[in-house]
Amino acid sequence: MSATIIDGITIGKQIREELKAQVAELRQRGVVPGLTVVLVGEDPASQVYVRNKGKAADELGMKSDTIRLPADTPERDLLALLDRLNADPAVHGILVQLPLPRHMDSSKVLLRMRPEKDVDGFHPVNVGKLVIGDPTGFRPCTPAGVQELLVRSGADPDGKHVVVVGRSLIVGRPVANILLQKAKGANATVTVAHTGTRDLPGITRQGEILVVAAGRAEVITGDMIRPGAVVIDVGINRVEDPAAPRGYRLVGDVNFAQAKEVASQITPVPGGVGPLTIALLMRNTVQAARQLS
Ligand SMILES: NC(=O)c1ccc[n+]([C@@H]2O[C@H](COP(=O)([O-])OP(=O)(O)OC[C@H]3O[C@@H](n4cnc5c(N)ncnc54)[C@H](OP(=O)(O)O)[C@@H]3O)[C@@H](O)[C@H]2O)c1
Repeated sequence: MSATIIDGITIGKQIREELKAQVAELRQRGVVPGLTVVLVGEDPASQVYVRNKGKAADELGMKSDTIRLPADTPERDLLALLDRLNADPAVHGILVQLPLPRHMDSSKVLLRMRPEKDVDGFHPVNVGKLVIGDPTGFRPCTPAGVQELLVRSGADPDGKHVVVVGRSLIVGRPVANILLQKAKGANATVTVAHTGTRDLPGITRQGEILVVAAGRAEVITGDMIRPGAVVIDVGINRVEDPAAPRGYRLVGDVNFAQAKEVASQITPVPGGVGPLTIALLMRNTVQAARQLS
């Protein structure tokens, strides 16, 4: 068997197209959804993410701003900036790009943000709203993207056994919380595996849908996958490759070559989950603009 590829680039574009109409409708009412990204320091990967976020917002007719602060900015200055953004009616969504420099306490920074503007969905109020199923909360973008990939590729999780590998607050746990909701596009039976899981292959082989967010290159091999399963690989890892133009290539947490012979559908890396994250950030910003105006 050779699995069908779940094309995240196309699905991400679809979502952004749908958002264009919603942005246009808000603009007619005089509301221009506004996203402000705060970047502290010079982390090269963060610079790329932030640039892409700004570009996506501009393409949709939203307003986007990036505020760059030097790496040695005192924490109190970042907190004061958040106070100003919280109070600014033109700013509907705020995103503080992580990781922050070491001298800053990211949970303190996160708590300072108004939950109504926390479009990344990591403020405890939004985490709580996700757990209780309150749709006014913001769902973290990558996990919400995993759900969109499943639903839009015809692999509705309803009634299925989903195995999630990873329990991070950023990916694994919110994926599990989203998919077990008694709601459309969810309603799955969810198992969450982690480093304390005994017999990981025995667990992963039960998954009709397998979502992998372990942060370990190619840790899930073909023999760990149930034949015919749908595999969503969230992992992005750099592995050295002298033959590649940059000296490295990107691989997921799943061994793609092996998995595609066992699975029925699978996301590639790159081009799978990655493009959904920005699309869902835009969707959260539109939701914030609607709820705040
Ligand atoms: N836009 C995107 O596409 C996007 C966004 C975010 C993250 N990612 C990628 O997704 C991956 C996961 O990110 P993360 O932030 O969730 O990583 P993380 O914080 O390192 O969490 C990894 C989780 O996987 C578990 N785990 C690690 N090795 C395992 C193993 N051998 N067997 C079973 N469980 C194992 C860990 O268990 P313990 O809890 O027991 O330690 C932990 O819960 C990374 O590759 C990251 O780059 C992609």
